[in-house]
Amino acid sequence: MPILKKPSPFYYSMYIYLLSKEDLDLSLFEVLSLGEINKFELNGNMLLINKKVDYEMLAYTKKIFKVICKSEINQIKQKISEIDMKKNYEKSFCIRCLKTDECTNLPSENEVASIVWKSIEKPIVNLKTPHTKLYLIGTAKMAFFCKEIWENKQKFDDRRAHLRPELHPTSLNPKLARAFVNILNKKSFLDPFCGSGGILIEGGLVGCKVTGYDIDPIMIRRSEINLKHYGIKKYILELKDATTINDKVEGIITDLPYGRNSKLENFKIYDQFLKVARKVTNRMIVSLPADVDLEKHLPSLSDWKVEKEFTHYLHKSLSKRTILITY
Ligand SMILES: C[S@@+](CC[C@H](N)C(=O)[O-])C[C@H]1O[C@@H](n2cnc3c(N)ncnc32)[C@H](O)[C@@H]1O
Repeated sequence: MPILKKPSPFYYSMYIYLLSKEDLDLSLFEVLSLGEINKFELNGNMLLINKKVDYEMLAYTKKIFKVICKSEINQIKQKISEIDMKKNYEKSFCIRCLKTDECTNLPSENEVASIVWKSIEKPIVNLKTPHTKLYLIGTAKMAFFCKEIWENKQKFDDRRAHLRPELHPTSLNPKLARAFVNILNKKSFLDPFCGSGGILIEGGLVGCKVTGYDIDPIMIRRSEINLKHYGIKKYILELKDATTINDKVEGIITDLPYGRNSKLENFKIYDQFLKVARKVTNRMIVSLPADVDLEKHLPSLSDWKVEKEFTHYLHKSLSKRTILITY
């Protein structure tokens, strides 16, 4: 009787997240923040962790794979032939190979497919709509035989500002707004400059209790119409000046106003806001024009700790900087 080698429990709980190369840093930070993870390995855009985060919410992860077995590249075919394929196969399958730039000599899809084929009783290959999507993923030295457990099919583009019932010309891209919600990682948050509600919508869609303030009654009305349109029920909207807030909140995500006032007037509003926000929360994500000199224009930022910074190019004349600040 052959002795079956049991994979170690670590293999059972190892996952590979295929991150978007669109913004790798943001993509990585989104997963780590949402999953509260500090132990990980990154190879190109493949993130290896041994935790399954609340992935249905993720914006910048493209796919997630559960590792079935792993080994050095030259032993992976042997390893695959040893696994109990019945546990991982359902109805039909297809094999795909993915590798980082450093990976060489990864076995081909055909080679892996023939091993899998031999280890299933009545195998069915389906290249277009397989029930079981098996992947061989190669990094510089290691190969991972995996099963796809999730593919990101969220339709962020369908929620872009001009496709919502009520428009705000400077509304954040919904995918970016969702990443900010995940990075804040709180059950409720406030957007004190909410405009037409772009950030509130992304929070509401993943079950956060969202509160929005705006100084302009037209914007409050627009937010309300948009939130209702997307079926969001847990929200509060109030006509309020963000520089006078005083009710405590779990966190803040906001996109500071620009354009309407002079730059200097805007800097004053930003600084005043940072000062009052310190009294109501200790975790905040703030987007602002990238040309704002943080030290010179925002003295109140010295009361906060800048944990992370991202820059996004919007168009020729505007780039935005987003900071995660805590204290
Ligand atoms: C950049 S927009 C926010 C866009 C928003 N994220 C969206 O998706 O529509 C900034 C908003 O801040 C509002 N605003 C400007 N000064 C304000 C203040 N002192 N208090 C509250 N809201 C203010 C403006 O009316 C504007 O709607």
